[in-house]
Amino acid sequence: MRCAKIGILDSGIGGLTVARAIGDAMPSAHLIYFGDTARMPYGDKPPDQIVRFVREIIAFLLDQGVDAIAVACNTSSALALPAMQGDFDVPIVGMIECGAVAVVETSRTGRIGVIATGNTVRSGAYGKAITSLRASAHVVQQACPLLVPMIERGEVSGERTRHILRDYIRPLLAADVDSVVYGCTHYPFLDAEVRAVTGPSISLVDPAIRVAYAVRSAALARDPSLGADPEAPAIPPRFMTSGDPEVFARMVHLLLGWRPGEVERISMDTRGLISRNA
Ligand code: DGL
Repeated sequence: MRCAKIGILDSGIGGLTVARAIGDAMPSAHLIYFGDTARMPYGDKPPDQIVRFVREIIAFLLDQGVDAIAVACNTSSALALPAMQGDFDVPIVGMIECGAVAVVETSRTGRIGVIATGNTVRSGAYGKAITSLRASAHVVQQACPLLVPMIERGEVSGERTRHILRDYIRPLLAADVDSVVYGCTHYPFLDAEVRAVTGPSISLVDPAIRVAYAVRSAALARDPSLGADPEAPAIPPRFMTSGDPEVFARMVHLLLGWRPGEVERISMDTRGLISRNA
């Protein structure tokens, strides 16, 4: 029996919210995380660039021998995954379907808010996924372009954060939604501030737990011999970033309370391909 190796990718630190959930769902799995911090944010980049970045990172994670990959980035899931169905021979789980299922299950009225990056909103992916599950749903989307850069700086609370959130969330409140799905993996780090703006009556839905269980089932379906060896020591997650490893390590500690060992720096060569640059 061997432990599952799970690849996780995001434009930066947002996917850590998914890594945390996968760590809880698969305590003996070896997590291999890649944050493309040097090229974030993805939220307003041309879609063909996102497709190229995601292909490169998936190929890189496959080279690390992963058993399954979580595309822990809604923007990448919305823009890149539909273009690469069946291109890779490991299971690849995205955010959108899991987020849609989770919010449809949660919403009583069918009036559903989505907060996400500009690219995810423009793709219409959440609207399509939600109405395919519940045709009568009324989906109100709000792009929140200021949030990712703010969270990447570690700004996850305070008056300025709340002020920006109020502006983004006001239209959703005006549309009388009863649930809001975090359509960007960075946003759960703002959960306390979002809650302060929405008040207690609105359900805030994070797709991460559902993604974690989908990754676990997909990895086991591909190789049923993967499992937990009670004798095996827990393998610490491996973190890689295209940006500054020290900043990344600080953010992992600040946001998750984990103390990552060495964070590896992986840089892009002139053709944009990933190369090790330890
Ligand atoms: N965490 C990414 C997402 O879920 C953020 C994308 C960005 O870099 O703008 O969409």
